[in-house]
Amino acid sequence: MEGQLHIYRLSLPHVMTIGSRKVRGLGRKIRRSLHGRGVVGTLKFCVEALVNPSVRESAEVALSEFDRQFGVDTVGRIHIKDMDVSASDRADCAGYQGTPPQVFHEVLNVLKIKHEDFVFIDFGSGKGITLLLASELPFKRIIGVEFSPRLHQIAEENIRRYKSATQKCKQLMSVGMDALAFPIPRDPLVVYLFNPFSDKLMSKLLANIEQSSLDHPREVFIVYCNPSESRLLTKYRLCKAGFAGSSGGFAVEYGVYQVSGDQGRV
Ligand SMILES: C[S@@+](CC[C@H](N)C(=O)[O-])C[C@H]1O[C@@H](n2cnc3c(N)ncnc32)[C@H](O)[C@@H]1O
Repeated sequence: MEGQLHIYRLSLPHVMTIGSRKVRGLGRKIRRSLHGRGVVGTLKFCVEALVNPSVRESAEVALSEFDRQFGVDTVGRIHIKDMDVSASDRADCAGYQGTPPQVFHEVLNVLKIKHEDFVFIDFGSGKGITLLLASELPFKRIIGVEFSPRLHQIAEENIRRYKSATQKCKQLMSVGMDALAFPIPRDPLVVYLFNPFSDKLMSKLLANIEQSSLDHPREVFIVYCNPSESRLLTKYRLCKAGFAGSSGGFAVEYGVYQVSGDQGRV
């Protein structure tokens, strides 16, 4: 069949069906992007994608390269409707997409902290790439919380497989449960969020973090990538020393917030 030219005859209703399917598909993509990136992020992504159509692919290429180098599996996108979680758990939750290593390094570099004192925790950790990347820093402990049993299993396998001569933290684990049910550790924290869920669940998680900071005042940072619900953080007045940036090549926006336990909600 190679090199053969096929000419299909399409009737007007046929063309209209395809057209409306495409429009519906585009609508779905835009809704997903708004949920994932927010309005500003979506506009920025569209501009980046027009200028450089390989933006989307570059994240997947970066993850594939990482997988090849370390013999792990972090690549791929999984829509929430294809996830092995109950229908009620799907509402308000995002699907899977891993953080490209370059973005992670750039964002974590913003934090000038003594890593040894901090526990790193990724709520909605997927296949666990952030856990592997964080283990290159001397964190006290590293925890990923993921509610998809399949992704949690892959993350556990990735942790087993990951071998790096420069790995600084060996205390890393993936926990298979809902992020909101996970008890917030009392240590100083770096909380990592790659847009795991929308406002309802985000509000609950922030309330948990806030309560924990009030009960046990300590340093808590929230690193929020593709921060579609960032307005919630300012509503809670958690943001003490914020930092906003974007990782251009991957069209990922991020914000870094510091939770102030003695300030609380106003
Ligand atoms: C965009 S992915 C980010 C994955 C990972 N944090 C990273 O940066 O590579 C969001 C993840 O959050 C998970 N997730 C969504 N809602 C969750 C919930 N309520 N509890 C735990 N995990 C959740 C999804 O299954 C998905 O793996």
